[in-house]
Amino acid sequence: MVKPTPKTFAVKSFGCQMNVYDGERMAELMAGQGMTAVDAADADLVVLNTCHIREKATEKVFSDIGRLRKDRRVRALDAPMIAVAGCVAQAEGEEIVRRAKVDVVVGPQAYHNLPALVSAAAAGAPALDTDMPLASKFGALPARRRVGPTAFLTVQEGCDKFCTYCVVPYTRGAEVSRPFAAIVDEAKALVDAGAREITLLGQNVNAWEDADGRGLHDLIRALDRIPGLARIRYTTSHPNDMKQGLIDAHGDVESLMPFLHLPVQAGSDRVLKAMNRSHSRDSYLRLLDRIRVVRPDIALSGDFIVGFPGESEADFAETLSLVDTVGYAQAFSFKYSPRPGTPAADMGDQIAPAVMDERLQRLQAALNRDQHAFNRASIGKTCAVLIERRGKNAGQMLGKSPWLQSVLVEDDVALGDIVTLQLTDAGPNSLVGRALFATAA
Ligand code: 5AD
Ligand code: SF4
Repeated sequence: MVKPTPKTFAVKSFGCQMNVYDGERMAELMAGQGMTAVDAADADLVVLNTCHIREKATEKVFSDIGRLRKDRRVRALDAPMIAVAGCVAQAEGEEIVRRAKVDVVVGPQAYHNLPALVSAAAAGAPALDTDMPLASKFGALPARRRVGPTAFLTVQEGCDKFCTYCVVPYTRGAEVSRPFAAIVDEAKALVDAGAREITLLGQNVNAWEDADGRGLHDLIRALDRIPGLARIRYTTSHPNDMKQGLIDAHGDVESLMPFLHLPVQAGSDRVLKAMNRSHSRDSYLRLLDRIRVVRPDIALSGDFIVGFPGESEADFAETLSLVDTVGYAQAFSFKYSPRPGTPAADMGDQIAPAVMDERLQRLQAALNRDQHAFNRASIGKTCAVLIERRGKNAGQMLGKSPWLQSVLVEDDVALGDIVTLQLTDAGPNSLVGRALFATAA
């Protein structure tokens, strides 16, 4: 059936920061076609940029689609054109077309083709593209124009690590690094468009390398020289790719923020081996020691999975003791979720949901306790805070400390300012600061 070509669009992104970045780039692409961004409830075209990492991702996509269509029926409007993008599209593309009769399915490596797919769908045929071409999609995307004080920049995609629980190597493909010059150009464009902080993104961002043998630290040193770029962060890293050059950069690159997200997943060597993590509890802890030598104040963050197949109470106790040893500033923790097609999904001794729930509660209590302690230890300190957005209350603004803590401030500060604040109070999730003076913009 021929459909009207959409004039308005909405992109809804789920999951990780890489999806947020992809969603922004898809929005820029549609805007470049002359389409206007509106609320999903009113859009002619709704792009669902999906995540497949945990839980019932596919079912959630189907229920989202059902809800969107029902809402239009209730309001006696035509159904929107629906495009499913992201990792569920990659993993379950044909199933989605068959079951939900969506108009477009586009994988994470093919979304530069979104306008062509939308045109094809408007001409009447469902359009699917889940290719993973070697040629990069990035060259086919429009230049960055307008961003807030903080921006994401994808520098690396895909993963060759094949942790046994993880779907990423299948949905995002093999590790690919974007070229040095393209990244530096995009960073400059982001700064010209208003960014003061850039977070470099990749599933294994610290595995970034180029044909000339440059590593992430070389890239960071080049970005550090961009006038106006005050802060650099990067995520997510794998412990085995944490090279000395990158550790050294934490010691002497001023714009590189003292924060490191370094997932460990579990504290027991037996579980780490079954996960195919290729690092041990001890090698992880020794790595943290080396980083703390050059940057004693580094704030550490991690990811944890509880209830991996075969995880005993003794194994879990080792995760808790690792948390006690490290003292994370913040962390993410998840119940193990079997992903179709991954080796762990077929392992024996899957853990009962009630056991996982109980372990997750104990782990989160420990992580929350440490996060609150880390925040309390900041009270009385003076630090530079980048103002990112308005707070919930009138007159309140929210910024981030160098250690990625949220800081609320009620003084007269503007978006994009970097202000020196005295930290006066701390809760589990945020701090309160008082302006001492504003640094030059
Ligand atoms: N089940 C639970 N958590 C998972 N993660 C990845 N795959 C799974 C899974 N199958 C978590 C890991 C990873 C984070 C992005 O998501 O902790 O670091
Ligand atoms: Fe998944 Fe492991 Fe790769 Fe991270 S390193 S994306 S957890 S396979």
